[in-house]
Amino acid sequence: MFNDYINKDDLNDWRHLLLLYKFALDEMSTKLTILNEEFQQIHSYNPIEHIKSRIKTPRSITLKLIRKGHEVSLENAKNYIYDIAGIRVITSFTSDIYNLKDLICKQNDIKVIQIKDYIENPKPNGYRSLHLLLEIPVFLSDRVENLKVEIQLRTIAMDFWASLEHKIHYKFDKVVPSYITEQLKECAELANFLDEKMLSINEEVKKYK
Ligand code: GTP
Ligand code: MG
Repeated sequence: MFNDYINKDDLNDWRHLLLLYKFALDEMSTKLTILNEEFQQIHSYNPIEHIKSRIKTPRSITLKLIRKGHEVSLENAKNYIYDIAGIRVITSFTSDIYNLKDLICKQNDIKVIQIKDYIENPKPNGYRSLHLLLEIPVFLSDRVENLKVEIQLRTIAMDFWASLEHKIHYKFDKVVPSYITEQLKECAELANFLDEKMLSINEEVKKYK
């Protein structure tokens, strides 16, 4: 699990740091679950389809630090790696993404560090999602630690696209033939069309209630 860049003496400190991020992830997941369940009770509707979360491995953290030109240290990991704790929230509709974003960002124990809206501004390859970089306090026995958590919010269609694109990216070792990237781009547009169409059908159906 640990690697060449992490000194044996530092192992426990790294384990401890990752445990803190696990706590941050647990807190954030609970917040999302509460929003989802409360919404279900009030509106008989679940904005969240499902949630996936992960802690970055020490290997991946060290590689990213090196890639970014930083020395491998706990302090640098905390300061420069923003996605040690990552949560992916999958919704049915694009509107759910923005509703959840507003509900999360207005919670006063959460500090919003950065919002990247790849739905309004998709990446050139067609990638769409809303990324929130947040900081959340974790109350420990002797101190409070503010830890960063990255949340990616996507619809099922955006997630379907991103999963395939990710697989292809690695399959071709990041040099993807252009006819494949073109088709992927086309699929991203189709996924977007599907999201818009499904949303408008849902809006129509709501009027019947
Ligand atoms: P890194 O965190 O180093 O990746 O760079 P960044 O902070 O500039 O990236 P960004 O916030 O744009 O994206 C971070 C994460 O979003 C990635 O680790 C992926 O999980 C996801 N992501 C971003 N772009 C793409 C993409 O083009 N395709 C797929 N499949 N996922 C993406
Ligand atoms: Mg990132």
